[in-house]
Amino acid sequence: MTSNLTPVVLAAGKGTRMHSAVPKVLHPLAGKPILGHVLDALAEAGTAAPVVVVAPDVPAVETFARAHPSAPTLRHQAPPLGTGDAVTRARDALPATGTVVVLFGDTPFVSAATVVELAATRDEADAAVAVLGMKLADPGGYGRVVTDGVEVLRVVEAAQLDEATADVTLANSGVMAFDAARLPALLDRLPPRPARDGNHEFYLTDTVELARTAGWRCVWHGCDPVEGLGINDRAQLAEAEALLQQRLRRRAMLAGVTLVDPASCYLSADTRFGQDVVIEPHVVIGPGVTFEDAVRVRAFSHFAVDAPKETRPIVVRRGAVVGPFARVRSGSDIGNGAHVGNFVELKNADVGNGAKINHLTYFGDAGLGPRSNVGAGTITCNYDGIAKHRTEIGADVFIGS
Ligand code: UD1
Ligand code: MG
Repeated sequence: MTSNLTPVVLAAGKGTRMHSAVPKVLHPLAGKPILGHVLDALAEAGTAAPVVVVAPDVPAVETFARAHPSAPTLRHQAPPLGTGDAVTRARDALPATGTVVVLFGDTPFVSAATVVELAATRDEADAAVAVLGMKLADPGGYGRVVTDGVEVLRVVEAAQLDEATADVTLANSGVMAFDAARLPALLDRLPPRPARDGNHEFYLTDTVELARTAGWRCVWHGCDPVEGLGINDRAQLAEAEALLQQRLRRRAMLAGVTLVDPASCYLSADTRFGQDVVIEPHVVIGPGVTFEDAVRVRAFSHFAVDAPKETRPIVVRRGAVVGPFARVRSGSDIGNGAHVGNFVELKNADVGNGAKINHLTYFGDAGLGPRSNVGAGTITCNYDGIAKHRTEIGADVFIGS
């Protein structure tokens, strides 16, 4: 079933409401770009390789999509004339039969299971279109899905609500499944709609009324409102981050990690924990960090790989103790039972098993052998302004203050 499902991910919008130099779909959520969450869910669903629609003048989005393991096909859209036009740009990359599922690059929480269910709902009803809807007490800026039982009559954008649609509480998540054979005919007939900039645009949601006019069924499938959360501005970005942090913390705790004060501990989507790791309050963990069993992170510590410049991950090995107030940067490998104490910064540093760097130290581009001890106020000074010259300290060395 799922290989018969081709996703199209729309990521060519301007993202104007973010007021940002960074493309909207590349803003990170738990350290991973919003678009990455969508592509990862599709990979988990085991669909055919996705088609990602990007803007040719925003190469960062294209570069990110190209590097994704699901090997997406890229299509360009310029200028961005709406969600309907974006799918039209992907047309030549779509199969003639099966189901096409359109997703938005700004809607990160749609699950693999839901994508598969939506496609199955369309298939079983032999519908031309299936809309993924969510019941919201206040659907705000979302389009409204007007239904009659399981049938969808039309989708009305928030800006175009009238008396008849003002009270509709089923919101359009933006995810829509199409019969691949009938999609081209619908795209051909999309009517131009006036756009805010005086131009015109094409709404993907208009396919519903067009399909019904052709005598084709349109149905809907419900999802958890979290799955349909679309990110258009920084307030929604913060809302999504909070939801994701809650999920990540819960997952970590249920897997055997003690978070002393979960609400003040910030994780990344790829943070890896062994058993019996204890994280004290106010700890920030950026992407690319692994904690092995029985590690203790004391309060106010910060772990981050400074991508894109530095990419080497961080590993904290079994039984090591880090912090309070430690800063651990890219490429640091803290050995079994090692201690890294207060006001210590590590970068590209290998700290041997049982070694200690306990107070006020910068230890960068350096290696410290097993059981060695670095005294207070020590720094490795190995950058001459042009090149870095790695510092190597052997085993069982004692360095004073
Ligand atoms: C859209 C839906 C709305 C739905 C909401 C859910 C339409 C007309 N409206 O509104 O019914 O409730 O999403 O979040 O479909 N994009 C392109 N090219 C374009 C325009 C947009 O690729 O020309 C991409 C954007 O990058 C974004 C997605 O499509 O990832 C949605 O666009 P956006 O402008 O955010 O639509 P909404 O106003 O959120
Ligand atoms: Mg949106």
